[in-house]
Amino acid sequence: SRCVLVGAPVQAGTGRRGCDMGPGAYRAAGLAEAIGDLGFTVADAGDLAPSPWRPAPHPNPAVRHLAEVGGWTATLAEAADRLGAEGLPIFLGGDHSLSAGTIAGMSRRAAAEGRALFVLWLDSHPDLHTLDTTTSGNLHGVPMAYVTGRPGFEGYLPPLAVPVDARNVCMIGLRSVDPAERVALKASGVTVHDMRAIDEEGIARPLGAFLDRVAAAHGVLHVSLDVDFLDPGIAPGVGTTVPGGATFREAHLVMELLHDSGLVRSLDLVELNPFLDERGRTALLMVDLAASLLGRRVLDRPTRSF
Ligand code: ARG
Ligand code: MN
Ligand code: MN
Ligand code: MN
Repeated sequence: SRCVLVGAPVQAGTGRRGCDMGPGAYRAAGLAEAIGDLGFTVADAGDLAPSPWRPAPHPNPAVRHLAEVGGWTATLAEAADRLGAEGLPIFLGGDHSLSAGTIAGMSRRAAAEGRALFVLWLDSHPDLHTLDTTTSGNLHGVPMAYVTGRPGFEGYLPPLAVPVDARNVCMIGLRSVDPAERVALKASGVTVHDMRAIDEEGIARPLGAFLDRVAAAHGVLHVSLDVDFLDPGIAPGVGTTVPGGATFREAHLVMELLHDSGLVRSLDLVELNPFLDERGRTALLMVDLAASLLGRRVLDRPTRSF
C-alpha cells in the first residue's frame, strides 16, 4: 500500500514562530525511511502553499491571520480529498489550524465513497473555539468547531462541504479546556476521555470502544495527533506544553491499537516546533509513533478484531 507525505508548514494559527520548520524536521528525522521499512510505497508531495483567500474582517478583534489560515484550509481540503483517494496521506504540520483543511477534505472524500468520517483527536486541547469565543485569537484553537459545522465561520473560512458529525469524534488526552470550550463540548456530542479518565480507566479500553464504533458504522478514520497530547517531559518541542500528558507507553499503545484496527485512512502530525525541540527528540518520537501506527511492532501477535 501507499503513503503520501504532505508538508503543511502552517504557523499562522499559533502565537509562536517555528512550526513552519515542522515538515523539514520530520524529513530529517527519517519519516519516509521509517515508513518505507514497513513495506509501504512512500511518495513525498513536498510542501504545499496557501491558496488566495479574502475573508471579511471579523468583529472579534482578537482573531489573527484569518486570510492565511483560510488559504491553508482551502489548499489542504483539496489536497486531502485528492490524495486520500490514492493512499494514506500524512500531513506534516504546521500548527493545528491545518486540521480545518485536512478533516474537511477527508470528510468530503469519505462522503464521495458513501461513508462517514470519524475523527480521533489526540490532544491536550479540544480546539473547539469559534471565531467569536476565542480570546487568544490563535486559530489553532478553532479547527474542531469548524469541521463539526458550528456556526460563525461563513465568509471567514472557506465553505465546508461535508461537516463531520460531532458524535463521530473522540477526544483523548484533554487537560486544558477553556470555559467556552467546556460549554461547547458538553452540547456537542463529542466523546471525551480527559486525562483523569485515562488515569482511572487506562487508555486501551476507551480507545477500543471508539474503534468498535467506527468499525460497526463501516466508517473511515482520521487521526489528528497534536504533540502536546504527549507529556512535555518526552516531547518538549511544542509551543503549548501542558503538564501531565500521555506517556511514551500510552502513546505507543494507542498507535499499535490503531494499526491493529485497520481503520486509519489519514493522519495529521501537528504542532511540532523544531525551534523549541532538544536535539530532534520530539521529531524522532513523532516519527516512531507514526511507525507504530503503520505497523511497526516488537513481536507478532494475534491481532485484536474490531
Ligand atoms: N485554548 C487555547 C486557545 O484557544 C489553546 C489552544 C491550543 N491549541 C493547539 N492546537 N495547541 O488559545
Ligand atoms: Mn491542538
Ligand atoms: Mn494542543
Ligand atoms: Mn468511551
